[in-house]
Amino acid sequence: MGKVTAGKEMLGDFAPQFAGFNDDVLFGEVWSREDKLAPRERSIVTVSALLSSGILDSSLKFHIQKAKDNGVTKEEMVKDMGRYDVVLIGFPIWWYVAPRIIQTFLESYDFSGKKISLFATSGMSGMGDTQEILRLSCPGAATWGAGRRFSESASESEINRWVGKSSF
Ligand SMILES: Cc1cc2nc3c(=O)[nH]c(=O)nc-3n(C[C@H](O)[C@H](O)[C@H](O)COP(=O)(O)O)c2cc1C
Repeated sequence: MGKVTAGKEMLGDFAPQFAGFNDDVLFGEVWSREDKLAPRERSIVTVSALLSSGILDSSLKFHIQKAKDNGVTKEEMVKDMGRYDVVLIGFPIWWYVAPRIIQTFLESYDFSGKKISLFATSGMSGMGDTQEILRLSCPGAATWGAGRRFSESASESEINRWVGKSSF
């Protein structure tokens, strides 16, 4: 694995000690122990942990790219996207739109001929221009379902009803 310098590049002037921990300890000493756990497996565990913790920020984007660099394939990240005709994509609204990682996800696969339906939770805002913005990341998708916004306190049955309607 090449030396990671992202911490120093992004935070070197502002928080040099933190940048040092990131580059020299986390990556330099922990990630570099390739004899204990191969980078590919370390990437799979890291991306899974970030996703299951709901961490959708730039660190997830960094680790998805790192996973690709470490040999994790698209097919391994979403097992056989070709099997699905309808793809439901859910996310929290952040600053009136979808978190950036949703664009990265859409840019990573070929959705030609599939139906994409978006759903989101938010404190107050609607979906705004979210669907129009996300369409730009996915020019090949054949059809888009009506997007649906749910409140933060939406019940499972409310969401299940929408899933039932959106799946065809
Ligand atoms: C960084 C950030 C930005 C947010 N921006 C909005 C917003 O623009 N409009 C809104 O109604 N809610 C906003 N929220 C509230 C989230 O949409 C809400 O917490 C989320 O839908 C609930 O899902 P969660 O429990 O997974 O966070 C924001 C939350 C965060 C953390």
